[in-house]
Amino acid sequence: MTTRAPQPAPLTTTRTRASEEVVEFDEHPARGRFNSAFFWVMGGYIDWHMHTHKDTAFADLPRTVVELGAGVGANMRYLPVGARLIAIEPNPYMHTRLRRAARSRGVDLEIRSVVGERIDVPDGSADAVISSLVLCTVSDPGAVLAEVRRVLRPGGRFSFAEHVAARPGTPTRWTQRILRRPWAWIFEGCSCERDLARAIQSAGFTTVDLSHYRIRSPLLPFNTHIAGTAIA
Ligand SMILES: C[S@@+](CC[C@H](N)C(=O)[O-])C[C@H]1O[C@@H](n2cnc3c(N)ncnc32)[C@H](O)[C@@H]1O
Repeated sequence: MTTRAPQPAPLTTTRTRASEEVVEFDEHPARGRFNSAFFWVMGGYIDWHMHTHKDTAFADLPRTVVELGAGVGANMRYLPVGARLIAIEPNPYMHTRLRRAARSRGVDLEIRSVVGERIDVPDGSADAVISSLVLCTVSDPGAVLAEVRRVLRPGGRFSFAEHVAARPGTPTRWTQRILRRPWAWIFEGCSCERDLARAIQSAGFTTVDLSHYRIRSPLLPFNTHIAGTAIA
């Protein structure tokens, strides 16, 4: 995507210690460590299912990108060479592997240990915000999307690849309902029952371009997805 006027304000370079910045994230040592290891080990397999759609949604990203819930770095492979990544990642158990991924890919990483509901980035300062598999987990997707709009410059782009609720009455939807509690417990609050297409479409972006798709993984509740781009 080509950059457009007006020029973005510079992103703040303030760095503070993670322990000072964690807000509203329910930190759990055992599950935090499990999720960090899970996404480190399974990241390649998950990305293999999603990469065709991520290739489109995350194409031509600018050099500086803000990422919601960067996890252990699943999306670094989609960043341009020499990229700078502002990672909004409140889970401290992700940070060591996230730094390791950045080192191995040559990404200039800045971790902000804040929640997506309160992004520590100035208004209208970002060209691009990305997320994958995050809006299912945040406490308040509407508040996060409002923050995404706030930090994007006019014409800036939000690119996303998320898993969503299946169509009502389908076996996948029943499974998502039945497994909702253990799923949320294991995956730190993740819900497979969110209509995130509607949430993004009603979040006040100028345009939204998204597609629904299905992956074929053994994790049935996780198989219904959306990917696309919204312009601020
Ligand atoms: C399922 S993982 C996905 C990680 C990565 N984006 C990926 O695709 O592999 C969800 C991520 O969102 C983060 N997260 C949870 N609540 C959040 C919040 N309120 N704001 C920002 N990130 C959050 C978690 O710490 C975790 O790294």
